Amino acid sequence: MNRKIFLTSLTAAVAIPAAILTTAAFADGGSGLRARPEGPCDIYAAVCTPCVAAHSTTRALSKDYNGPLYQVMRQSDKKTLDIGVVQPSAADAGGYADADAQDEFCKDTYCWVTIIYDQTGNGNDLHQAPRGGFCGNSQGGFNNIPVADWAPVTLMGHKVYGLFINQGMGMRQNNTSGTAVDDLAEGQYWVFNGQHYNNGCCFDYGNAEIDSRDDGDGTMETTYFGVSRGWYYGHGEGPWVMTDQENNLVGCVNDDPNDKFCPTLKSQTARFITAMADGEPHHWRTMSGDAQQGELEVLYDGCRIKNPRSSYDPMRKQGAILLGNGGDNSEASAGTFYEGAMTKGGTFPTAETNQAIQANVVAAGYDVQRLAISASDKTGRPNGLQTFAPKTTGSTSVVFVNTTGAAIDDLELSIVTPRRWKAFVAGTREKSRKVGYTVEPGQRVVVAFDVTSPRKAFNGDLTAKASWTGRNGKCSETAIEKVRNVSPVKINEFKVNGSDSFIELYNAGSRKVNISKWTIKSHSMHMPIVSAINIPAGTKLGPGAYYLLGLSTSGLSVDAAAGDEVIYVRSVRGISEGDEIQIGDEIRKVAAITCPEEEPQNPGWGFPSGLPGGTTTIWQPLPEGPVITIPAGSSNIPLQSVGGFKVGDRMAIGYGTTYPPTSNDLVRYEVVTITEVGTAGNQSYLAADAKPGDTNIKVQSVDGISVGDKIRLDIDSQGHGIETVTVKSIGTASAFHPSWELFDPDADAGTGIDIEEPLKFFHSRNMPFNAHGSGITFEPATKFDHSSNEPVVALVHAIRLDRPLSKSHPVDEAVYDSKAVGVGYEGDVTPDQLYGGPQLDTKHGNITLRDGKGNIVDAVNYGLVVDPWLSEGYHAESGDGMFGSYAPSPDDNHLSAGRYPDGADSDDNKADFRMQSAETYLPTPGRPNRY
Ligand code: AHR
Repeated sequence: MNRKIFLTSLTAAVAIPAAILTTAAFADGGSGLRARPEGPCDIYAAVCTPCVAAHSTTRALSKDYNGPLYQVMRQSDKKTLDIGVVQPSAADAGGYADADAQDEFCKDTYCWVTIIYDQTGNGNDLHQAPRGGFCGNSQGGFNNIPVADWAPVTLMGHKVYGLFINQGMGMRQNNTSGTAVDDLAEGQYWVFNGQHYNNGCCFDYGNAEIDSRDDGDGTMETTYFGVSRGWYYGHGEGPWVMTDQENNLVGCVNDDPNDKFCPTLKSQTARFITAMADGEPHHWRTMSGDAQQGELEVLYDGCRIKNPRSSYDPMRKQGAILLGNGGDNSEASAGTFYEGAMTKGGTFPTAETNQAIQANVVAAGYDVQRLAISASDKTGRPNGLQTFAPKTTGSTSVVFVNTTGAAIDDLELSIVTPRRWKAFVAGTREKSRKVGYTVEPGQRVVVAFDVTSPRKAFNGDLTAKASWTGRNGKCSETAIEKVRNVSPVKINEFKVNGSDSFIELYNAGSRKVNISKWTIKSHSMHMPIVSAINIPAGTKLGPGAYYLLGLSTSGLSVDAAAGDEVIYVRSVRGISEGDEIQIGDEIRKVAAITCPEEEPQNPGWGFPSGLPGGTTTIWQPLPEGPVITIPAGSSNIPLQSVGGFKVGDRMAIGYGTTYPPTSNDLVRYEVVTITEVGTAGNQSYLAADAKPGDTNIKVQSVDGISVGDKIRLDIDSQGHGIETVTVKSIGTASAFHPSWELFDPDADAGTGIDIEEPLKFFHSRNMPFNAHGSGITFEPATKFDHSSNEPVVALVHAIRLDRPLSKSHPVDEAVYDSKAVGVGYEGDVTPDQLYGGPQLDTKHGNITLRDGKGNIVDAVNYGLVVDPWLSEGYHAESGDGMFGSYAPSPDDNHLSAGRYPDGADSDDNKADFRMQSAETYLPTPGRPNRY
């Protein structure tokens, strides 16, 4: 923040009532320590609109908060660390996040943000968002969790990290306490990056549905930022600050409900933005401003949306808290969050209070990243990754921007390298560059270095270091860039069209590379990874040579043991009785084939799909859960769907998932025999208000509910309370669905459900609840614990062999039938290796190549960014249709995607891969790519 901005913030503060003045950091009575600055929650509390939830990865939002701000989990050993608040010293008021602790903990590995703690003590922490109406990109439809270091900025003169949300990511809390429900008033503010956005639904923060589904107009009320024109819109091209009130991004209210243009809604341009969405009965207000200077402007202040159905007045808020997604877990949005808070249900902050919050944010001094390191051709669009081949030199730049707020001297920039690496200022033998002039506030200094890697393969960090003399004496800061030092073998071309799939590797170097025991993992969106393709010992790839992996006729869908006479496979297409088939290196004849008359259906768009026989998942209950554990020793399991399961069939239940799923570990299966098929789990809603003393509740659906079931109702809020009821008898469901129709008091409400005990609390209509259903019963009992969203597979494709297997074979072992035509890889170049699976996801996936020691050699996200931590490319490109950097998915057109020319790699999946053009250039497995 420069001096001018600092003065502006003090000027803004003068206009605010004394009781809620932002306090600058002055010396604390006698201790010699500087006093911690007040935060927005101190301001809200001073005027009796206390925070009910406060979230930030950058700072404490009240002067007394000393708990953790957020939790990170590192990939290397899955350990977690709470990132706390820096304490005051004589020179520094503290109160900002301890980013140095994160950097130290995450060195040479990847870290994710697993929890953003609620700073109010109400337990409204944000976690990995669960699958809702829409699925995120992670296993079982969870949203991906944000990578911890993708949004560095400066705050209070120090490095801190914001939360970078890309398509498929998001955080949520459905089981909240004290937030506004129904038409209760509430205030909400947030601070975010005004230059990172897209048009995907919906980069929101605030109050939403407790079942992650669209429960109808008015069931959410959040802040929104982006360029969506799907509902309301303002001047110019956007981005706009609006509110999300469900089935509506709202910027204003016009007399004509079909008129969606908001004359007072301006396009936002600031780098950092503060925005507010405050709602109370019949009234809401939106305000926004530049978070680095000045006051907020009122964007809208007036009545609720008018429409003939009065569907937004009164509101029917449910009180969940989301960050980065839409109410129904629409997850196409992008943006960067720094801080935000919500006031207690039933409170409505004044515009003056909001101006005081803005002054506090301005005083906190958000500014751009001070120190950065990237490949020299990517300083404007840093992608966080630089790949070296062993013993090569690359150009890496260190970029310093003076965000200290004052002129500095003695600036020195250097690169701290991993062992045996070398870094010299470009064209010299100097290890650091001393900048021999005073660097003014806002001034940028760039120094290029020649970085040389050693022979040894490595995945880890290059660290930039800056030191300088500023207002408070000597200071220093570090920043990291991920580097790979690996043999130049590339994932060069791939084809994902159903069974005719291949993956081609290419040696882009000038020496032979030993690729023995290298592995390839293919990760389908929503699915766990169950196997790796292993390249056989003794395999070498010459310079300019290709290694082609073709999908086999079929593959094992679960492990097979020595002595097994029946094997379960991905598909039996093309295989006939009497055929000779090869399972790994064993040859058998097909004695009999079993397959379903109809392929089991997957449980709906966006839900896990793609494994043999259709995959469903273990039930995820909302608003409680979202993860439940079914302990080892169980013989029944609740499921999202029971379609495709039959008594007597075998069923595979996945286990080994770690929560949150982070897309790297292998998941395994245990196999059981189905003895009874019951009902699937069901998310439902109350269909009418229920009051204390009632012994009957009206419900939108009775599916999955049985007598004796225990059903949890509601959340903990003013006028509401959580209780668990026992089902006594089951009648009929109500005739309307809340998200499609407005409540009709004359519609048939059904006879509902009788419950054992009278209700203790009031529960308003369309508050969600869930029923686990009676699931599937099986034998033997499980050997392992299982958790919500783990995969469950009906093993519907089976082959009886003429004689038992002599050896055991792993899941995805190739099953090959030379007589099968039109299934498996069909190209004219003979593959170097057949693989039985996993079959590549036909739309979105990730393919990762690792060397024999586990170093990542190359990785491709295609279709979408499925594994953000494995991504290659710049993800902050903003505007319509910007969902991050990924290779095209050549899904339905029997083409392939590949690098052109072969081996070209600029560490950017989007730039490096092209899709084949239809007529002229067909896939080229095992040969040079053409476009
Ligand atoms: O209101 C806009 C969006 O519509 C909501 O966020 C989502 O739940 C629905 O799809």
